[in-house]
Amino acid sequence: MGIATEELERRIRTCTLCRLHRNRKNAVPGEGPYDARVMLLGEAPGRNEDLRGIPFCGAAGKFLDELLEIAGLKREEVYITNTVKCRPPQNRAPRDDEIKICASKYLKKQVKIVRPELIVVLGRTAAKALLGKEIPITANHGKVMTVKFAGLNFLIFLTYHPAAALYGARTRSKLREDFAKLAEVLKTARIPRPK
Ligand code: URA
Ligand code: SF4
Repeated sequence: MGIATEELERRIRTCTLCRLHRNRKNAVPGEGPYDARVMLLGEAPGRNEDLRGIPFCGAAGKFLDELLEIAGLKREEVYITNTVKCRPPQNRAPRDDEIKICASKYLKKQVKIVRPELIVVLGRTAAKALLGKEIPITANHGKVMTVKFAGLNFLIFLTYHPAAALYGARTRSKLREDFAKLAEVLKTARIPRPK
């Protein structure tokens, strides 16, 4: 990990730019190699993530590990982060102003450093942050799209949030299907990194 990325992580861990810093125990910058082909973008840290400072280390993370295996990906080879880096109180959805400030300060820098071939967008908050508007996941999951973000053109793969799946078998099976599709997408001709 280079000095710029260490400095970025340090800034996130000490950030007080939005109200979410008040209730956090640990900010969660993200985890994984900064030259990963694939980046995964969640919503916000939950209870376990806040306690440990690591993304997707609770129940949703366990299901995510199963999904990654379906896609033929190892957890160590993907870069995983969240749209906002601090846990919202009672796990409420991050608010627009929090998303705006956190994503423009940190997520934009992270995507420019990693420049992944593909960003797997987990749920509506992540989709909103990248697309700049609300998009129904039910009608668009399993699709590859392009977005311009941080001045770069990214390929994104839209799917449900793995935590949503913990409440319903239907969403669980849709997520499994999506990650099987993702395996196919990643097997096709190598996608160029965004320039
Ligand atoms: N949900 C998320 O969006 N991110 C995590 O890190 C854990 C649960
Ligand atoms: Fe800073 Fe983001 Fe945490 Fe808000 S959520 S305090 S902007 S790191």
